[in-house]
Amino acid sequence: MADDKKIIFSGMQPSGLITLGNYLGALNNWTKLQDEYNCLYCIVDMHAMTVRQDPAALRKQSRDLLMQYIACGLDPEKNIIYYQSHVPQHAELSWILNCFTYMGELNRMTQFKEKSQKHADNINAGLFTYPVLMAADILLYQADLVPVGEDQRQHLEITRDIADRFNKIYGDVFTIPEAYIPKVGARIMALQNPDRKMSKSDENKNNTIALLDPPEVVMNKIKRAVTDSDNEIRFSEDKPGVSNLLSIYCAVTGKTIPEAEAEFKNCGYGTFKATVGEAVAENLKPIQARFNELSKDKAYIDGIIKNNAERASRLADRTLRKVHKKIGFPPRI
Ligand code: TRP
Repeated sequence: MADDKKIIFSGMQPSGLITLGNYLGALNNWTKLQDEYNCLYCIVDMHAMTVRQDPAALRKQSRDLLMQYIACGLDPEKNIIYYQSHVPQHAELSWILNCFTYMGELNRMTQFKEKSQKHADNINAGLFTYPVLMAADILLYQADLVPVGEDQRQHLEITRDIADRFNKIYGDVFTIPEAYIPKVGARIMALQNPDRKMSKSDENKNNTIALLDPPEVVMNKIKRAVTDSDNEIRFSEDKPGVSNLLSIYCAVTGKTIPEAEAEFKNCGYGTFKATVGEAVAENLKPIQARFNELSKDKAYIDGIIKNNAERASRLADRTLRKVHKKIGFPPRI
């Protein structure tokens, strides 16, 4: 990786399927960053362990996620796309950072509180120290920028606090990362609850469109999307359902909202939804075709997995060695 470029790090859990929201809000933009930045996209299977996972499903979802990244246009030579569990430095740095993180800080994390309520029978220590592993992910690569959604802002803040605390004791070891807010990027809402974001962990599958949903499923989910009763197709805060469909339409076609509003001026909701559905299905087609090709090319994907983990590991090692030296671990002879 070229040394003069800024570093972007992001992670995604291999739980659930990537949604249209992930694609239009994040992934689609990441492909535009691959020349300007050095980007690492980590599939955070170790974070996924904080809730119970079915082993076979976890393995499949991890590989599918990696292939979907590539199918969406992320070049595995320009970016580093890899599994967190293949780079042991994440766990090693995480342990050290645990010793620089206070219980009180972790206790304030809203995600911990929410997940403890949701998984009341499994409030494990990993769930509690989850943000520390996330800090290790980011700090290992001296990332400058971290694209994160609102829900992860608090974790980025604690990462900055931990890095700053460490730097104050040992000198400038870690780059203090900042949130990366993309200039463009659609905010796609849940189809049945357009007042909240489309999320891949949503249990109601009618709320989300998966990147790999076949065309008829896409059409059907959009047909069933919640709208309103005034039959007017315009973008407005008091029309969250219609506005969301307009955003989706514009994101996949490249049209502007006024253009789309004009196009649908004399349409009913039925025609509107069918047109949006078709546009989305059409947009997903080449991604799905590429995904299917990649699924058949085991050797190619295996090569990427191995090679990218090695590249990540080399970078991670630089930071970890520096950390070991600073904190006084004995040198390796
Ligand atoms: N916690 C993030 C999420 O659930 C995933 C994640 C793990 C991450 N490590 C990261 C995101 C580092 C950004 C940077 O969405």
